[in-house]
Amino acid sequence: MNLVLTGSTSGIGWETLLALLPQFDQVFLPVRNLEKAEKLIQSLPQKEKIILVYLDLSNLASVKEGAAVLLSQVDEIQVLINNAGGMYPSGKQTAEGLDLSFSSNHLGQFLLFQELLPALIKGQAKVIQVSSEAHRIAGPPQQDFSLRKSSSTVASYAKVKLYNILFTNEIVTKYESEGLSAYSLHPGAVRTAFGSEASPWAKGVIAFTKLFFISPKAGAATTIFLATTPKEKLKNGGYYKNKKLSFPSTLARDSKLAKALWEFSLAEIQRVLTNTGTHKK
Ligand SMILES: NC(=O)c1ccc[n+]([C@@H]2O[C@H](COP(=O)([O-])OP(=O)(O)OC[C@H]3O[C@@H](n4cnc5c(N)ncnc54)[C@H](OP(=O)(O)O)[C@@H]3O)[C@@H](O)[C@H]2O)c1
Repeated sequence: MNLVLTGSTSGIGWETLLALLPQFDQVFLPVRNLEKAEKLIQSLPQKEKIILVYLDLSNLASVKEGAAVLLSQVDEIQVLINNAGGMYPSGKQTAEGLDLSFSSNHLGQFLLFQELLPALIKGQAKVIQVSSEAHRIAGPPQQDFSLRKSSSTVASYAKVKLYNILFTNEIVTKYESEGLSAYSLHPGAVRTAFGSEASPWAKGVIAFTKLFFISPKAGAATTIFLATTPKEKLKNGGYYKNKKLSFPSTLARDSKLAKALWEFSLAEIQRVLTNTGTHKK
């Protein structure tokens, strides 16, 4: 059994790694900071099972390269956990000209999924998406999902967390017949490094509210539950909270929106990779 887990170098992802490491044969960790990851895993008893792969989710060229490195070492994946993400100042762009929040929280994960697809299908994988209750305050997306015109940091975050659920639903629509299952979840309000890259105003609000948050270990519980519970006992496409099935917002259940986001994401990847010449490599 092979696991791919993003965002393992902090908070919820680190606790997820600690709990799941004993249960898998190989654990692939795509990380944007190899030095930090190397140091962290030194303390782990089963670190020989871990394969670190450099991959910055905010950069599509890096996702493509990282995914290729990963696929050169594994041909079947049983669980993919898209956990990495965070809140970033609205208007901040990546070197590829994408909104930082859109690329880090959605498009990078979307491309990672596309690149790993053959191995995911071979492993009849579960794809787990760490979303948030923040999705409920997202306004209706326009045809342009890119967030380039987003009004604020919080509005962008709410939208990308909505995208996480729409993405999950569309995976089920497109790939359930090929054996894939997909779930999204809210981890709770968790005391992590979350918000450390947000705007100063958002950072201040988060720092205050963190006083009331749960521990990272408690925050990882629903992810671990979904990764370890047999598929037959879960609802394919379900949105989970506190290890229980829950109802996401009406927008999050809109199948036309899910399809439109999927198509927009494919086109955006094609556009960026063509512009940067990455397709030719
Ligand atoms: N904390 C909460 O209350 C809360 C609530 C709802 C949902 N969530 C969601 O839970 C997930 C985990 O967040 P957390 O609270 O554990 O936050 P965190 O402590 O800040 O951890 C975020 C992780 O994502 C990684 N990451 C961020 N951007 C990346 C990129 N471009 N490429 C590769 N890795 C990247 C970080 O890597 P580095 O170590 O290199 O920074 C880190 O490992 C996120 O999706 C977040 O939206 C959190």
